[in-house]
Amino acid sequence: MNLITVKPELHRFDSCREFAEMFQIGEKDFILASKSTYLKHFHDLNTGAVVAFKSDYGPGEPTDLMCEAIMADVEKSGCTRIIAIGGGAVIDIAKVLAVSDGNTMDELYAKAPALTRKRGLVIVPTTCGTGSEVTAISILSRVRLNTKLGLVSPTLYPDSAVLIPKLLEDLPFSVFATSSLDALIHAMESALSPKANAVTRMFSYQAVDMILQGYRAIAEQGPDARIALLEDFLLASTYAGIAFGNAGCAAVHALSYPLGADRHVPHGESNYAILSGVIRKYRQIKTDGELAVLGEKIAAALSCAPADAFDALETLLENILKRKPLREYGLTEADLVTYTDSVLANQTRLLSNNFVPLTREDILDIYQSLY
Ligand SMILES: [Fe+2]
Repeated sequence: MNLITVKPELHRFDSCREFAEMFQIGEKDFILASKSTYLKHFHDLNTGAVVAFKSDYGPGEPTDLMCEAIMADVEKSGCTRIIAIGGGAVIDIAKVLAVSDGNTMDELYAKAPALTRKRGLVIVPTTCGTGSEVTAISILSRVRLNTKLGLVSPTLYPDSAVLIPKLLEDLPFSVFATSSLDALIHAMESALSPKANAVTRMFSYQAVDMILQGYRAIAEQGPDARIALLEDFLLASTYAGIAFGNAGCAAVHALSYPLGADRHVPHGESNYAILSGVIRKYRQIKTDGELAVLGEKIAAALSCAPADAFDALETLLENILKRKPLREYGLTEADLVTYTDSVLANQTRLLSNNFVPLTREDILDIYQSLY
């Protein structure tokens, strides 16, 4: 039985220059970056690499159509290595660029997991959320299906993941909040997954503890307290990535995808909108087992009684981001039924990792409880 796979080499640098020199970035490299980060930290390094900005291809979360446009430009460039410098959207597109060979996205999804690696792949995350730098999955909006779907293949593991904590200093608090909430949810969902084991849970629970300790500092001292803790948050995000890359995410992500794709809600925010409803439903069905262990870990981090852990967690998270009821995203009650059917039709990969099985009625009830 395989307990854990950690594929990419993991690197950490104080400066972008050290990274560029160590990785000998040059004209055979195709850098896909978020524009502001690139201009501030990499432009003056004059690496000679071909550079493209994600924002030139479209706003917001990555779509299959956006990917196809960038794939065409990579093909023309003749580059042999992809370097992603950005948040989840940039990273997820870069993974596809490393395996694309003139295919459409529909063809890649149809072939997966049997994809072939065409180019090298180096990932530099600039948020503290996705954990995607250490996973073999790329999540894209399928425009024609109106939901998000994971493209999964062992060939999507990057060759190298590069942590440069300094890059996170530019993150506005709102992006810090949504991305770190995503990491916390990766850690919680992977801890509760039936595919988890003692090794993957070590990463999950370490991430839960680091993120909650950081959130306590922010709640007590204000948003600027995060600056001294950015390396912790970046590491926690990577730990959570290792955990969910092996044990999987589950219902929170599954129920959040239709909201994210349909209403263009940032991924961490749409997950956060769903989290409390899923945990409440789990607790209605089963309170012991790993959910009790997770409650104890949260209680230890928040210095409260285990029985109060999930309520205390909700209170703490409200300090980081105000949770909006689903109606405030413009949904109707009929949309909740449509979303439920979409989850059941498209997200079986994630639903199989639920702490306890959820029925159609359970899923609809979760949405309604959050409305
Ligand atoms: Fe996520």
